[in-house]
Amino acid sequence: MTKVAIWCRHENDNVIGIGSQIPWHIKSDFQRFKRITLGNNVVAGQSTYESFPNRTLPERNIYILTFETDYQVTDPEHHFVVNDVNFFKDFEEDIYISGGASIYKLFMTGDSKLMPDIVVDCIYKGDLNPDLTGNKVDITPCVESLNKNYRQIFPDFDLDNITTRVMVRKGEFVEQSVLKKIILEITNV
Ligand SMILES: NC(=O)c1ccc[n+]([C@@H]2O[C@H](COP(=O)([O-])OP(=O)(O)OC[C@H]3O[C@@H](n4cnc5c(N)ncnc54)[C@H](OP(=O)(O)O)[C@@H]3O)[C@@H](O)[C@H]2O)c1
Repeated sequence: MTKVAIWCRHENDNVIGIGSQIPWHIKSDFQRFKRITLGNNVVAGQSTYESFPNRTLPERNIYILTFETDYQVTDPEHHFVVNDVNFFKDFEEDIYISGGASIYKLFMTGDSKLMPDIVVDCIYKGDLNPDLTGNKVDITPCVESLNKNYRQIFPDFDLDNITTRVMVRKGEFVEQSVLKKIILEITNV
């Protein structure tokens, strides 16, 4: 099982959201996320799940982390409620950790058995949407963990004001087929 985290953060302050929304709209960023996660298992916190259009991601399974034991999903065949993150320690299939901040922090700064093998670190260099109200949500502790525990495996890839870096965990085996596929999807524009 390979654990992949994928996010897009602002370059200055590691902000990934304002209130419940992502404070930029870059089509190629959504398309990259879709290409990388299609056909795979996505892991998302309850707030992020509720921000997906129609609370779904077509052609993907979604594992929703929530403390609510009777949380209702929109598509019980493909969406699964998880109340304890340790569930993923023994999970056999690949997972794509897709936010939000509290979920990235659980995986990046918690038990090392949960740490992603690969991080797709997208860094947005433009302006934040000034119309959004709400608290800024940032992933600074995750970026600190990234800088300490990971190494870059592929040169920076720039597109539409976003630099994408593929990072792998230092000293750990990484499944090459997963890595190759991710790099292909990033560069396949
Ligand atoms: N830029 C990006 O790449 C990106 C990607 C995804 C999301 N985002 C943004 O991130 C923000 C949302 O992040 P967030 O941190 O507020 O919310 P979140 O991580 O999406 O969801 C938080 C919820 O996850 C559940 N949860 C947290 N820790 C848990 C644990 N240990 N066990 C079980 N369940 C747990 C809780 O659900 P319950 O309250 O139901 O118990 C909690 O309220 C939004 O602004 C969103 O747009 C940005």
